[in-house]
Amino acid sequence: AQANLSIQADAGIGPVRRRLFGGFVEHLGRHVYTGIYEPGHPTADADGFRADVIDLVRELGVSAIRYPGGNFVSGYRWEDGVGPREERPRRLDLAWHSIETNEVGLHEFSTWLEHVGSELMLAVNLGTRGVQEALDLLEYCRIRGGTELSEARRAHGRDEPFDIRMWCLGNEMDGPWQLGHRDADSYGELAARTARAMRQVDPDLELVVCGSSARSMPTFGAWERTVLRHAYDEVDYISCHAYYEEVDGDAASFLASAVDMDAFIEEVAQIVDEAREAAGSDRTVGISFDEWNVWYMRRFMSQEKITDIEHWPVAPRLLEDRYSVLDAVVLGSLLISLVRHADRVTSASLAQLVNVIAPIMTEPGGLAWRQTTFFPFALTSRLAQGEAVDVAVECPSISTERHGDVPAVTAVATRDGDSAAIFAVNRALDESVEVTVDVASLGASRVSEAHVLSDPDMYAANSLEEPERVTPRRLETRLDGSVLTFTLPPVSWVAVSLE
Ligand code: AHR
Repeated sequence: AQANLSIQADAGIGPVRRRLFGGFVEHLGRHVYTGIYEPGHPTADADGFRADVIDLVRELGVSAIRYPGGNFVSGYRWEDGVGPREERPRRLDLAWHSIETNEVGLHEFSTWLEHVGSELMLAVNLGTRGVQEALDLLEYCRIRGGTELSEARRAHGRDEPFDIRMWCLGNEMDGPWQLGHRDADSYGELAARTARAMRQVDPDLELVVCGSSARSMPTFGAWERTVLRHAYDEVDYISCHAYYEEVDGDAASFLASAVDMDAFIEEVAQIVDEAREAAGSDRTVGISFDEWNVWYMRRFMSQEKITDIEHWPVAPRLLEDRYSVLDAVVLGSLLISLVRHADRVTSASLAQLVNVIAPIMTEPGGLAWRQTTFFPFALTSRLAQGEAVDVAVECPSISTERHGDVPAVTAVATRDGDSAAIFAVNRALDESVEVTVDVASLGASRVSEAHVLSDPDMYAANSLEEPERVTPRRLETRLDGSVLTFTLPPVSWVAVSLE
């Protein structure tokens, strides 16, 4: 098949903010313990952090990292994770039926972030807690000294305030599974009150209010409208969460997941516009797509649950999905969707980072390796610079059970002065696509690098035994004058960088 891409150079979408390439670390399973933190590991540094993991996180190129949850945060007491380690309590984690040892908390995690070069996006607990505890945490973090909590921070070894600008007002409060779940009115009112109080301490905070935990939630839409009615003037972002998986072997529908993400973003953007008008506001609340990924959630739901409360484990193996080439191609297409909406999605966090539905895996005492999904994320994060540019695609369509007819190819471009990049995905299961694109309007005259992720076996994956089974290959390209051509193999993701 053939596809013609035309760069809509006059239709710049908006800046590709670094925050689009954020991550997420939750106290869940082996994410923190034996994931990022494992004293005794051969690569562990003086603080007990695995240097092999730090190197991979740096290579992945993640900007802000959301912490400490997720569902975990809705029962978390931040005080448990500060102060002398030997005095920290062991607690029940009701979200994941585990024991939290609190060996790692705010100070340790901030130190780790300094090693990986990422910014902290901190979530407050609005499940079992409220305004006062959010204010306490803010005082502990942001006040230089001279008050009880700021002096406690200093006594705990951190003289300077933590430089935390982004704060999440709870997590997935629309979800009945969430500890302290509320209805939209009750949450919207609490979020607005908490936001106002936090701004009395620091007016420059960037605050994220909870949107829906999935587009398929029965309250989706009504939830956003109600929450924004209460909180529009108080917040900077509203969150979206979305996870995709292949169901019953329907790879065609799975490959079209970005169509659902596009619709989700556009529907929330429309609600934000209406709320903005109703609030008579002159600023637009952004979308923080702060949980997105491929997650085999049905598999997780059908697994035996940890029930015996006398024996809740520390750091069990949970949500350790092993990702295939197919999953990585879908993830690449979701990134294309995020970049295509860079005007509205001003922050996003891949959920999650290490071991738990993650691009990076570790073995206790052993290796750390890259999953297939690592590659489209790392390459898009590195190559998508400057401004996002729309790409019109003429190509055959594919019919899918879940999303109807969808274009076989999806693409986006970015440009930054003299350099540019094109990202594209072929969703066809067994047909290659010859792509032609006139790059004159991108002002580029040569291809500087080009990568393709595909495999004759779309279920091929990396593992402890075969950590480099799947890696991106160099993509053959031809540039005749300003016309660039390349071939997209079936089920493939490509990135072409030009200058
Ligand atoms: O990322 C795993 C879980 O998914 C998070 O804890 C929660 O916020 C979401 O439901």
